[in-house]
Amino acid sequence: MKTIILEGKPIAEAIRRDVAERAGALRDSGRPVALAIVLAGEDPASRIYSKSILKAADRVGVDARLVEIPADGGREDVGGSIRALSEDEDVSGIIVQQPLPDWVPATVVEEIAPWKDVDGATDASMGRLFSGRDAFAPATALGVVEMLAGSRTPIESSHVAIVGRSAVVGRPLAALLLRKCDRGNATVTVCHSRTRDLAAHTRAADVVVAAMGSPEAVRGEMVGEGAVVIDVGVNRVEDPESEKGYRIVGDVAFEEMLGRAAAVTPVPGGVGRLTTAILLRNAVVAAESAAERAR
Ligand SMILES: NC(=O)c1ccc[n+]([C@@H]2O[C@H](COP(=O)([O-])OP(=O)(O)OC[C@H]3O[C@@H](n4cnc5c(N)ncnc54)[C@H](OP(=O)(O)O)[C@@H]3O)[C@@H](O)[C@H]2O)c1
Repeated sequence: MKTIILEGKPIAEAIRRDVAERAGALRDSGRPVALAIVLAGEDPASRIYSKSILKAADRVGVDARLVEIPADGGREDVGGSIRALSEDEDVSGIIVQQPLPDWVPATVVEEIAPWKDVDGATDASMGRLFSGRDAFAPATALGVVEMLAGSRTPIESSHVAIVGRSAVVGRPLAALLLRKCDRGNATVTVCHSRTRDLAAHTRAADVVVAAMGSPEAVRGEMVGEGAVVIDVGVNRVEDPESEKGYRIVGDVAFEEMLGRAAAVTPVPGGVGRLTTAILLRNAVVAAESAAERAR
């Protein structure tokens, strides 16, 4: 069997074109998209991610700004800043960078107004998502759906096995795939570290999504012939032969999928490529809804 490699780049480019067009229309109507990125503390990876969002936003004409709260701030500062952004009519979307530092309680994200929660971070968004209503969902979970739709993989009536039950990937993805809509109506199995005979679940699935954070844990024999395999994992593994001393691998043993799976996403270059574009699209949706409400 020839295995198709599902690259994220062309799908991300199509999303960016759509975002640029819609952001332009909003700007022309005097209601531009304005995304606030809240960065509390000094996590270097969060800082790099924030910068990449700012750069990507600039490329598609979305006005994004970084709201930095230094480590000597306190709970009130972070909560108060988010509340102020939620009340600011000129801000259409808010993301709060995770992981939060120790001095900020995780519940601070609940200060984000649900209609501005473009990262799907609040309990309100998660609750709406699970009850089948319209809601913002985390960009990575949406990226998996986008990858399946973009590659014309049937979702409706397919059996999707998700390995991982985190609040940012596995759980929201299960809710998205269960929706009664075009890109939903799947039969979903959610697996985790206590699942008995994981391979029995993944082998029975039409689509396997690995979101475990465990390098190359999904082996060839765990996947049925002709399945579509989506790898969300991003793991650093030591590699003395590489210049940096490490390389990035997914949660799927990529080489073992070739000739067995119908399609597989690479890491890097797969689902991860879609995250920022989808986040910006969520920001556009939030701005469009705000414009609609103001009419
Ligand atoms: N933009 C992106 O591309 C993007 C964004 C987010 C995350 N990621 C990547 O996606 C991966 C998952 O991230 P996450 O935040 O969801 O991780 P997480 O919070 O650590 O959750 C991992 C999940 O996988 C399950 N799991 C771990 N090892 C397992 C095993 N051997 N068998 C079965 N289940 C297992 C865990 O089970 P328990 O619940 O039982 O512990 C947990 O539910 C990571 O590699 C991360 O870097 C990528």
